[in-house]
Amino acid sequence: MTQPLKLKLDASMCQGHGRCYSLAPELFEPDDIGHAVLKVSEPSAEQMAAAGLAERSCPERAITLER
Ligand code: F3S
Repeated sequence: MTQPLKLKLDASMCQGHGRCYSLAPELFEPDDIGHAVLKVSEPSAEQMAAAGLAERSCPERAITLER
């Protein structure tokens, strides 16, 4: 059985580029100043593609998928 991957956001690395909540609004939302807030820490199978896209799309590498 495969372990669910954990979606993580390092808020100290986020510079507010906004790609994550534009590309994956079901997983991230902006705060008052446009920095990302994580909405889902254990993405479902259906959300995994969006989670991977967000991970690859953050220029600051603030988003990671980990076991
Ligand atoms: Fe921040 Fe990266 Fe999203 S810099 S707003 S976590 S795309």
